Amino acid sequence: MADSRNILVTSALPYANGSLHLGHFLETIQTDIWVRFQKARANNCMYVCADDAHGTAIMLKAEQQGITPEQQIDNIRAEHMADLDGFLIEFDNYHSTHSEENREISAEIYKTLRANGHIANREITQLFDPEKEIFLADRYVKGTCPKCKAEDQYGDNCEVCSATYTPHELLNPFSTISGATPVEKASTHFFFKLPEFTDMLKQWTTSGSLQPQIANKLNEWLESGLQEWDISRDAPYFGFEIPDEPGKYFYVWLDAPIGYMASFKNYCDKNDVDFDQYWGKDSTAELHHFIGKDIINFHGLFWPAMLESSGYRKPTAVHTHGFLTVNGAKMSKSRGTFITGRTYLDHLNPEYLRYYFAAKLTNQVDDIDLNLEDFIARVNSDLIGKVVNIASRSAKFITKGNDGIMADALHRPELWHEAVAKSSVIAAFFENREYSKASREIMAIADATNEYFDSCEPWKLAKTEGKEAEVIAVASQCINLFKLIITYLQPILPQTALKAAAFLNAPLQWDDEIQPLLSHQINKFKPLMTRVDKDKVDAMVDAQAKAIAKEQKSTAKSKPAAKAASAIEPLAKEIGFDDFIKTDLRIAKIIKAEHVEGAKKLLKLTLDIGLEQPRQVFSGIKSQYAPEQLEGKLTVMVANLAPRKMKFGLSEGMVLAAADGNGIYLLEPHDGAIPGLRVS
Ligand code: MSP
Ligand code: ZN
Repeated sequence: MADSRNILVTSALPYANGSLHLGHFLETIQTDIWVRFQKARANNCMYVCADDAHGTAIMLKAEQQGITPEQQIDNIRAEHMADLDGFLIEFDNYHSTHSEENREISAEIYKTLRANGHIANREITQLFDPEKEIFLADRYVKGTCPKCKAEDQYGDNCEVCSATYTPHELLNPFSTISGATPVEKASTHFFFKLPEFTDMLKQWTTSGSLQPQIANKLNEWLESGLQEWDISRDAPYFGFEIPDEPGKYFYVWLDAPIGYMASFKNYCDKNDVDFDQYWGKDSTAELHHFIGKDIINFHGLFWPAMLESSGYRKPTAVHTHGFLTVNGAKMSKSRGTFITGRTYLDHLNPEYLRYYFAAKLTNQVDDIDLNLEDFIARVNSDLIGKVVNIASRSAKFITKGNDGIMADALHRPELWHEAVAKSSVIAAFFENREYSKASREIMAIADATNEYFDSCEPWKLAKTEGKEAEVIAVASQCINLFKLIITYLQPILPQTALKAAAFLNAPLQWDDEIQPLLSHQINKFKPLMTRVDKDKVDAMVDAQAKAIAKEQKSTAKSKPAAKAASAIEPLAKEIGFDDFIKTDLRIAKIIKAEHVEGAKKLLKLTLDIGLEQPRQVFSGIKSQYAPEQLEGKLTVMVANLAPRKMKFGLSEGMVLAAADGNGIYLLEPHDGAIPGLRVS
């Protein structure tokens, strides 16, 4: 094999404030397949990760449970590691950002940035919770929307009318932590001078380290001008204190990516590996980060700039994936589309999901949908119906008919050679993270093998005098092809590969020229994998719904912001019919629903209200609806509302929805309504 490469791989570090869900596993499975592929190809590849243990959320979570943050992160880390292990994610090291290594490297990097003149400080004013004595990030402030007067809205935008504002503009603001009314307070913050790296970043982002789509996005940001990055938080905060600045802490995102280095340092010290060979400025080793699309600014801008300033190498590549949806919808607890890794593992085989994700993953940033019906059909048809079937129907001819000894020559050599020749194509697909193409190629070999088996009709030959040798030859050919298929699938199905190797009585080595087994003794075939049982999938969904209901009951009790969760809002002042009829409500058909780049809560809707020109409306319903769910549906819109210019474009009206602390509920007319009908 060609020279082996030195490769260091990471997945994003999951926050230590909650359980891992299937979205997290989309990422770690994608990464693990790539790592296992590299290892199978004899590259020197190491995969490190850690829990991201710092920040206000983790501190508050610990407090809620009456434990220390250290206890909280230890508990969660143990839980995360067990779940990751359950999905067969094979890390070389799984560390924590709350570690000595991370404290040291973070301090060292910060001091270098400071010495290089890349740190600024200045006073800023923020909302402050006077009861809890803590500064409040936007998400910890709620209040009444200054525009539509909807209650219980977050500090930066209104989920009811989509208005955006600053937390200072909220009416009756309150801290979601204590319920107290926030006050303004000034404090000194530390900033990383990101704009000074603009030229370097323009060059780096276009140097082939990123998918084109991501490079374009980052370049839009680079063109519109970067801001200095606020890297400090005031006490109380769970994190590392900034060197020489008592009471000031590193913002969680400052030390989180350094956590990649810290985890690797911890590994190096235990395994006598040279840290600098991987992180030194002139390193020839490869560094690959796998991340989700929500954190590209941190990995594509802040992180390379920090590495540049502090004298370390920059990543070889940042590989970004899209988000996981379940049955076409964003994962949401209220809609039963949220599934934790643990609930899945309690009911189903991890390899089903590894295969399903692989069959859908490309090297693009598109979202990936886990459609549970399709999941059952796909896994059963491909893995059971195609792959495992080959071994289960062929093995018995060899074990019964020939004491388990395979034929001494290939029956149809061209079939074997064609499948071996696919090795480089399949390898290239794995290398380029085109797993869906890799699995399609592999399934094509399985199809060809099953067709071959059927056309040879070994079950008939077995009953024919004088055909004994041919039966063994056909069955052996199938077993050889099965071995090849499993060798190619090994990065995706490591457990099945182990079982298959035991049955084949031979290691599965993905060499450039894979050799067939001839005159080789195999073991008795044992079922490698069972079919996906629909009842188990249903049981998983039920169990998750029960777990969420239970959790919501207990958090409802402990929620401090009870003030906001007032029961039914008092009725508004009486109006006459003339007032009411001024509002022109129309049946609208959602002909298009789209995510809005950079908007956390908005969806862009294109509405047909029977007029020639469709309307465009931005609606704060993203947390509840996936675009696919809405397209084609009818709803009701306010059609004569003055258009409003928003950051993302013009909003020409609004759609009607009710909202409470648990969700947002869009209105939908009964059957028969058509776009343009007036509602009165
Ligand atoms: N702690 C940060 C990452 C720090 S990396 C130096 C973080 N943690 S996270 O737990 O919120 O997310 C971890 C990873 O999971 C991220 O890459 C994120 O994009 C990914 N995902 C979280 N939800 C996801 C889906 N629903 N689908 C796919 N990936 C998702 O961000
Ligand atoms: Zn509003």
